[in-house]
Amino acid sequence: MQDKRNGGKPLPLDMCGIVGYIGDGNVYDVLIKGLHRLEYRGYDSAGIALVNPSGKLNVYKARGKVSNLEAFCEDKDLSAKAGIAHTRWATHGEPSDCNAHPHYSEDGNLALVHNGTIENYKVLKDALTQHGCTFHSETDTEVLVQLIEYIKVKNNCSLLDAVREALKQVVGAYAIAVVEKDNPDRIIAARKSSPLVIGIGDNETFLASDATPFVEYTNDCVYLKDEEVAIIERGKPLKLVTLENKEAKIDVTTLEMSISQLEKGGYPHFMLKEIFEQPATLHDCIRGRVVNGGKKVMVSGVSDNKDKFLNAKRILIVACGTSWHAALLGKYLIQDMCRIPVEVEYASEFRYSNPVLDDRDIVIAISQSGETADTLAAIKIAKKMGAFVYGISNVVGSSIPRETDSGTYIHVGPEIGVASTKAFTGQVMVLTMLALSIAQLKGTMTKDEIAEIGKAILKIPKAVEKVLKLNEKIERLSAIYTYARNFLYLGRGYSYPVALEGALKLKEISYIHAEGYPAAEMKHGPIALIDEEMPSVIIAPNDHLYEKIVNNVQQVKARGGSIIAIVTEGDPVIHNIADHVLEVPEMPECLTPIITSIPLQLLSYYIAINKGKNVDMPRNLAKSVTVE
Ligand code: F6R
Repeated sequence: MQDKRNGGKPLPLDMCGIVGYIGDGNVYDVLIKGLHRLEYRGYDSAGIALVNPSGKLNVYKARGKVSNLEAFCEDKDLSAKAGIAHTRWATHGEPSDCNAHPHYSEDGNLALVHNGTIENYKVLKDALTQHGCTFHSETDTEVLVQLIEYIKVKNNCSLLDAVREALKQVVGAYAIAVVEKDNPDRIIAARKSSPLVIGIGDNETFLASDATPFVEYTNDCVYLKDEEVAIIERGKPLKLVTLENKEAKIDVTTLEMSISQLEKGGYPHFMLKEIFEQPATLHDCIRGRVVNGGKKVMVSGVSDNKDKFLNAKRILIVACGTSWHAALLGKYLIQDMCRIPVEVEYASEFRYSNPVLDDRDIVIAISQSGETADTLAAIKIAKKMGAFVYGISNVVGSSIPRETDSGTYIHVGPEIGVASTKAFTGQVMVLTMLALSIAQLKGTMTKDEIAEIGKAILKIPKAVEKVLKLNEKIERLSAIYTYARNFLYLGRGYSYPVALEGALKLKEISYIHAEGYPAAEMKHGPIALIDEEMPSVIIAPNDHLYEKIVNNVQQVKARGGSIIAIVTEGDPVIHNIADHVLEVPEMPECLTPIITSIPLQLLSYYIAINKGKNVDMPRNLAKSVTVE
């Protein structure tokens, strides 16, 4: 039975990246490069299907990263007129060569790649087995390709008709691409709930889970809508039809992304590049939103929806992971500045919590990727219950901005490193500006109060540049702490979500256990953990809780724990107690999280590097979590 709280709709439950190409370029090279760009979506296995000009369908697969597939393909026949490829984040079936995509049909005529989950795959598999089909993998995807072949043979119909009919029988989420051995000039693709975008170049067409695989070839793209099927044919214009075979309208969008944004630009890792981009990304995020020298703050969607914001009885923020930490800061900001009660929920909990909402609630959904399955599900529930839903996202054209009533982009450019850095500071910046523009509308802050913070916001990019000068000091410091087995991160008020975020950064890329805690709560339990082996990172800028956190610092010191403290320049007390201090520029209290989180990003980066970890692709993780 389907859960009615999902609005009865199937949700995207799988990750993975898919890419396809038809054109006169080198098919293999385009696909492999595309897979590298999509590796953030999973890197458990990769595979490629090449339709050879002489009517052969070559399928190559390898467990692990795309580089393993490249090594495997070195001595293979790579000639092709069209092809599709896949990078996997395993859900159904362990990461292995045989579970890797593309999957092919029993007669070897069709190959298919899939991102999503076929929820009724068991029923379909049993029926196909009874019709004599043999399965070679444990995946739900193989069922789909076998079903398409079965329908094609049984009805003696075209591949397009077989795909449409098969998709009508599928319950679940899919973005698929299918190629046929006998037709090297055509790819059929379709989507429901999982993302798929088609790039239209000069005599060449691309398809992919997002636009990054084709951004250097074309800026023109078409985002497929749910239950649309694309017919991509060499030398012919793109055609879209519905599952019922009705022609669908083609809306061409122009991409604003550039290739340089997708490269490392001389940095050893995307994560480090993205940390160092923050002066520029914050500048882009602020541009046009804080004007008149800081006196006016404008965030899209607030003035257009004045009544909603003026009459809101409550704001609920839903998000996951790092975006959830930004959401917690959103609570402090909105409550402080707008005097509206705010609740923050993990999207994954909210969706099953039987929430109480109505049309006087505003739900803010935060997601860097704009594709997180739990956040999307939370949005659907909130909309169904009548709430006004506002999205904060980074990826233009992704599912979350398309599902929400209104919202804004953080404009920090593509974030490739799996550990979120520049997106976090962008999200917090947008939430600060959002709170200020609601406060302006409601009159909960004076003009002078707004102007004081507005002016400080304009100085943030320069202040971040200064914080980044701590880089070498942090690199040296990291050597002392690389072999710690546990870390405690402590903060109060605005610095508490920063502590949570610092701990998450460390654990996800260095695999060191780290716990973020409200500093004053420590005495209710975690203080028992403190000894010489357990370093604490304490975020203690000069704010209204400074005196209080000084006590907490002393409590840690009294138990023999070593302390790294993030303090404001000219700090009066803590630098005498802590073992190491990292000084950041003075800022109004509400802006300190942007400044204090950056040394923590660098600390986790260097500790992970010292331990020889792959910081851009930590184990078991993927950048876009479209799995429930
Ligand atoms: C951690 C991290 C994740 C994401 C989370 C939500 O560094 O990146 O915790 O924040 O998976 O992703 P989005 O923001 O894309 O919804």
